[in-house]
Amino acid sequence: MSTKDTQLLNWLLLLIFLVDSVRSACNVCNSVNSMACYAVDQIQACDANNLPTRIPFNCPPGYVCVSGASGVLCRPTASGSIGDCQDCNKCDATNTFACTGTNSFALCLGTTTPQNSLGSCSPGYVCNNMNDQICGLETQFGPTCSYADDTTTTATPPTATPAPTPSTDNAATYCAAVKAPGNYAVGDYAETTCRQYIKCFLLNGVWRGQKYTCPGKTYFNPTTGLCAVSMPGNCYTPTGTTTTTTVAPTTSNPNAYCAKMQSQDYFPVGTNPSSTCRQYIYCHLLNGRWLGNMYTCPGNTYYNSSTKRCQTGLPATCTRAVARLSLNGVELI
Ligand SMILES: *[C@@H]1O[C@H](CO)[C@@H](O)[C@H](O)[C@H]1NC(C)=O
Repeated sequence: MSTKDTQLLNWLLLLIFLVDSVRSACNVCNSVNSMACYAVDQIQACDANNLPTRIPFNCPPGYVCVSGASGVLCRPTASGSIGDCQDCNKCDATNTFACTGTNSFALCLGTTTPQNSLGSCSPGYVCNNMNDQICGLETQFGPTCSYADDTTTTATPPTATPAPTPSTDNAATYCAAVKAPGNYAVGDYAETTCRQYIKCFLLNGVWRGQKYTCPGKTYFNPTTGLCAVSMPGNCYTPTGTTTTTTVAPTTSNPNAYCAKMQSQDYFPVGTNPSSTCRQYIYCHLLNGRWLGNMYTCPGNTYYNSSTKRCQTGLPATCTRAVARLSLNGVELI
């Protein structure tokens, strides 16, 4: 190999190393000096087991924490150094998930933006976006997010969370919050709340509300604001006798599931390797109603929420390392 080739190779290796170190080094102990980055501008020591001590020390002003060939060090930003620990809330290379905290994540559904999704790792596991398992053993992986992020941010993803809709339980407080005249839908239950509506009106400068039930076997239609014979697509009959407002995304109510997704697309169903991990729901809008169709992947294949295709490998969301996962407020079980 010529000197020129060797030089080129060295540059390439350095580049790969730099790219790799920028992406992976948060909370990763470096064997050279037994240190790890704690945050973009904070450093921490590692213990005898090569695990971060989680006790931060600030880099001097104008310095950032960088891991490199000579260990983990505070380096001046003036020399072009880019600090580690900047991959929190960023979707991984496969656009499957983003770590949103040391223990939490959100699905990306094939986009580069974390979706309105809350996932959490089981105790003893941390979220790491260089590890395609999503949740890796704490003793083997440093979390992608800084422990500093956990104390300053809650687990809400950076995507715009919809403004909280006022509760329809009380017509007066509902109308006081809505502050607009009209008839409003009350809920999703086919036999009860889908037949009800709240009428809001202004009287003597005060917003007032009254709850009504549609006559006979009619349902409230939010589009027309009137009672009609046809049942809106979001209405469903809850399974069991509990009056929970959480919609279980089961084959029995994909319409209700799609009413929560509010987008024409394919969506994951659950986290159970032997059942719901093989399923997906296609949501679409028909005459102003969200409808859903449930499908099962063929053979022994599983649904990949990023590629939106069935694959042979078990998705990373389908292990006991993932404690909980929800999408648009629907628990994926
Ligand atoms: C989804 O598919 C992509 C592309 O094949 C793959 O890289 C990724 O690991 C898969 N995601 C999961 C969670 O299995």
